Order: sequence, then structure tokens, then C-alpha cells
Amino acid sequence: MTLLYSRETIAARVQALARVLSRDFVGREPIVIGVLKGAFMFVADLVRALTIPVKIDFIQVASYGSGRTSSGTVQVLTDLRCDIRGQDVVLVDTVLDTGFTLGALRDLLAERQPRTLSTCVLLDKRGQRQVAVQADYVGFTLADGFVVGYGLDHAEAYRHLDSIYLLSPAR
Ligand code: IMP
Ligand code: MG
Repeated sequence: MTLLYSRETIAARVQALARVLSRDFVGREPIVIGVLKGAFMFVADLVRALTIPVKIDFIQVASYGSGRTSSGTVQVLTDLRCDIRGQDVVLVDTVLDTGFTLGALRDLLAERQPRTLSTCVLLDKRGQRQVAVQADYVGFTLADGFVVGYGLDHAEAYRHLDSIYLLSPAR
């Protein structure tokens, strides 16, 4: 396991993302929707760095099971509590990998007719994309590799770590 992004590096990048979001949504009160479980830590840090008011909700989906490879299907385990119709929505996930999760969630949320729908990911694994989906706000870009920590797990382990580690370069 090798250190990829330290706690300080993550904090600096999250602050920068929050500055851009605060500027882009100034005068509005978006609903930040975190994708559980992976995004719990990122959402917590991101919203605390914002200078605009937000509402917060979460959605839990299953896309990977306990392994490292995408199943290609996304199942909603716990849906939102908020009604997002007519609202500004910022969908927040930690990793954009194949794109199945963010793509499916974006389509699902779009059907509910929010006023705007933006996507924000901390890590974009650009080399892994199988679905044409791009995030509007991206923290870091990396080619490949399975990462853990800062909310991200492998078989539910490592989520609590405050830094992001490369578990293995290939899978
Ligand atoms: P996608 O559907 O393949 O884009 O994968 C996105 C989801 O899979 C995210 O919500 C993550 O929870 C998980 N995921 C993707 N890559 C990794 C990784 O490197 N480590 C841990 N979880 C990952
Ligand atoms: Mg996982």
C-alpha cells in the first residue's frame, strides 16, 4: 500500500474545489448529494469549506459488491429524502471509474427534474471509462490503480484512513 494523496494534499484540493463551487453557486442554495458510503468523508470536508449555504442528502448505491471490479449495474439501496425538483443539485462521489455509477445516478436524478444538475468527484480515473460521463468538478486525475482511504474501501476496510493510498497498481 503506497501513499498517493496525503491528508494535507487532499485538504488543499478540497478547499480549492469548495472555492470554485462557492463562486459558481453564489446566491443559491444547492442540494449536495453524496454517494454512500464512499463520499461520506469528502462531503463532510467539502461542505465545511463552502462559503454558501447548502442542503445535504445522501444516496446509497451498490455497484461493486465487495470486490475491485465494476459489476456494470447500479442498484439504489437507499434513496434520497429530499425532493430535488426545481433545485440546484450537486452530485458528489469520491471516485469516477468506469462511469457506471455516476452515469446511472445522473440519469436517475435528471428524471426528477432538478433546476440544474452538476457532478463533482474527488478522483477521476480517466483511463478506466466505459460509459461516456464526465464530472463538472474534479479534484485529482489518475490513470488507473485501485485506491483506498478517505472513505474508499476494499471489502469495507480502509475507509477511515485520512489519506488516499494505492492498494495495487493493476487489477
Ligand atoms: P464506477 O461505477 O466504475 O465509475 O465506480 C464508481 C464507484 O466505485 C465509486 O462510487 C466507488 O465507490 C467505487 N470505486 C471505483 N474505483 C474505486 C477504487 O479505486 N477504490 C475504491 N472504490 C472505488
Ligand atoms: Mg467499495
